[in-house]
Amino acid sequence: MKVTVVGAGNVGATCADVLAHREIANEIVLLDIKPGFAEGKALDIWQTAPINLYDSRTIGSTNDYAATANSDVVVITSGLPRKPGMSRDDLIATNAGIVKGVTENILVHSPNAIIIVVSNPLDVMTYCAFLAAKKDSRKVFGMAGILDTARYRAFLATELNCSPKDIQAVLMGGHGDTMVPLPRYTTVGGIPVTELISEEKLNAIVERTKVGGGEIVNLLGTSAWYAPGAAAAQMVEAIVRDQKRIFPVCALLNGEYGMKDIYLGVPVKLGKNGIEEIIELKLNDAEKELLNGSAKAVKEVMTVLDDMKLF
Ligand code: NAI
Ligand code: 2OP
Repeated sequence: MKVTVVGAGNVGATCADVLAHREIANEIVLLDIKPGFAEGKALDIWQTAPINLYDSRTIGSTNDYAATANSDVVVITSGLPRKPGMSRDDLIATNAGIVKGVTENILVHSPNAIIIVVSNPLDVMTYCAFLAAKKDSRKVFGMAGILDTARYRAFLATELNCSPKDIQAVLMGGHGDTMVPLPRYTTVGGIPVTELISEEKLNAIVERTKVGGGEIVNLLGTSAWYAPGAAAAQMVEAIVRDQKRIFPVCALLNGEYGMKDIYLGVPVKLGKNGIEEIIELKLNDAEKELLNGSAKAVKEVMTVLDDMKLF
């Protein structure tokens, strides 16, 4: 299996490192526009192989897409990250052009690749990649839900002083402050979370999750990378190992949840064909209202993309 990661910055290099040390792909290409940057990161990662005892090869490339030829999966992380005071949506003017160009270049050499978008603003950048790719939407989707649920699960594990492995959760909607964590679909070792934690504490964790990206931007001066990189690698693993895992993924809706022509976070089954199923949960009226509010926020950013007239 060959996997390309475009953008050798914080998230891209972390993703490549996880893919390599967990031997998720035997060939991993890191590509970046900055001269020598991807080569340097790839070489450094490769030099962990004798220490961490794995065989996967990591190869770097400065904007030479021939090196990415015949990739099975491509992860797009290229673009600007958030700085303090910026929302993810502030990035669109720069990142839309980058995501469009990268997608087109990738498909010249890997027309059958499954594409996972990470660049922000995530839901609209995934839509942008879909428009540029002109391919089945089940093969073009975005990473955010695994990260956002991981934050929610980590906060719950801290509060309950239990293993994060035992916390299962679903989170829907856009990758922004309107995201919709779903306590009704959250369990701890099979026990509904509402049995274990007060409503007040649970609400505080939901609210912290919604701004979880911003919390890290304020601490670091740029956005997170360990959890985002690991989350993207987990999606690649589900595809290359045909695991049929159920994850929240940013997917194109075509009537599901009563919505069309919008990329939004929903639970899906991920396997070798990409998104093999979109799972439609029964939402109550309050949850539907939150999801519709999140979709409205994503639609507003889609208008900015439309106005850029890139397509
Ligand atoms: P970074 O600045 O560390 O890395 C971005 C890399 O993209 C840089 O090395 C840059 O040279 C490269 N790049 C820019 N234009 C390029 C092009 N045309 N072709 C190839 N490479 C190009 O940023 P970081 O922290 O890795 O974040 C990357 C993106 O991922 C940002 O847009 C960020 O907002 C987003 N992000 C999304 C998350 C999600 O949950 N979906 C989570 C974390 C970050
Ligand atoms: C994050 O959630 C900023 O999207 C980035 O960490």
